[in-house]
Amino acid sequence: MTKNRSAGWGMGALPRIVRGEGSYLFDAAGRRYLDGSGGPAAFSIGHGNREVNAAIAAQLARVACGYRYLFTSEPLEELTSLLLSLCGPAFGHIVYSGSGSEAVESALKVALQYWDARGLSTKKHFIARERSYHGNTLGALSVSGFLERRRPFEGSLLDVAFVSAANAYRPLRGLEGPALAQVLADELEGKIEALGAERVAAFIYEPVVGAAGGAVPAPAGYARAVEAVCARHGVLVIADEVMCGSGRCGTWRALEHDGVVPDILAVGKGLAGGYIPLAATIMSRTLGDTILAAHGAILSGHTYSGHTTACVAALAVQRIVQREGLLSRVHARGAALLKELRRALEPFAEVGDVRGRGYFIGIEFVRDRSSRAPLPPERAFSQALAKRAFEDGLIIYPCAGHVGGTAGDTVIVAPPYNASDAELAELVQKLTHALERTLAAG
Ligand SMILES: Cc1ncc(COP(=O)(O)O)c(C=O)c1O
Repeated sequence: MTKNRSAGWGMGALPRIVRGEGSYLFDAAGRRYLDGSGGPAAFSIGHGNREVNAAIAAQLARVACGYRYLFTSEPLEELTSLLLSLCGPAFGHIVYSGSGSEAVESALKVALQYWDARGLSTKKHFIARERSYHGNTLGALSVSGFLERRRPFEGSLLDVAFVSAANAYRPLRGLEGPALAQVLADELEGKIEALGAERVAAFIYEPVVGAAGGAVPAPAGYARAVEAVCARHGVLVIADEVMCGSGRCGTWRALEHDGVVPDILAVGKGLAGGYIPLAATIMSRTLGDTILAAHGAILSGHTYSGHTTACVAALAVQRIVQREGLLSRVHARGAALLKELRRALEPFAEVGDVRGRGYFIGIEFVRDRSSRAPLPPERAFSQALAKRAFEDGLIIYPCAGHVGGTAGDTVIVAPPYNASDAELAELVQKLTHALERTLAAG
């Protein structure tokens, strides 16, 4: 029996997973899947890593978790100092949680608490971008510009102001590069002025958009331009790097690429590489110090915040990333993978764009390359392609709806940082084959 009717998950019949090894997963029928997207870009160093598993087992044998208000622990302290050193000297405090949504939720709350600590308690509003996803809890969903995921909850979400997506393939007014970045920054500035800077707490965005667009880096100059606007108006910048951070783009922080330091950073997914759920909200020293001086504590946390064994897992994963030089590998090999995918997919008229950064690559499909018109939504092309790839033993991540909320098809390719050259070649070959089959099926 390999198919499990997992009605409790609402996902129909799925193969039953039994094992993972490196870049591969195996189901109960013995089928092998190349993990070409880490599920949603989560499994940063692949599966079944013995060193990580041994570290987790050793910690469990000692104690699973020391409750955060009673104990500190060596793993918690080591992970905190490692993450702060990876993020850079501006950062000084971390709130741990178990998921990206909670990390974003904490980021929003930290921004509010900071302004309250400064006596500026009218600063309660957030500005976010259209075509974005920040998580599934009510606060994180409120700042998400993701029509389908918001729809059933409209009316109960926070009142958030939205500005345009920063998408060079689908740009505002056909603009390119720095001109596009400037227009988008001007739009943000106009929105802050319209709301009144004294009412705006923070602007939140994904430096490289994940599920809501299919690995979309902002146009060159964008991050610096919005940073300048926010600084001018006393608005905090929250970078949601849950999907694109923790090394996925070839630098530990995705915004390192742009030379930009946000006030608050949310990370998750690749942080502990899927071995144990762990996410973190990392804030500037100034923010954390101000809050602690005024209130004595950052009022965002959970029973299992900083769970000892989760910290051990993250520490083991991050040490492997460091020791094996995986950030430089992702940086250099990612650029080559992008070229290889472009070359392999060029013959397909339906491939409109192949873009991304590091091991975070999006492939967008269109009806017509010159007009960039999307495929008809009823064709559900990205889902069909991901399904065929899965049948062929390749995991990729389908995204839809970034054009007008319902149309637009992309898939994300996001392999483990330590995937071998042969595995990356297999990824390209299997994806090409799955695309041929999907197009042939009409
Ligand atoms: C950019 C971004 N932020 C937040 C989240 C929410 O993370 P989680 O699903 O771990 O709650 C996601 C999940 O895909 C994401 O891509």
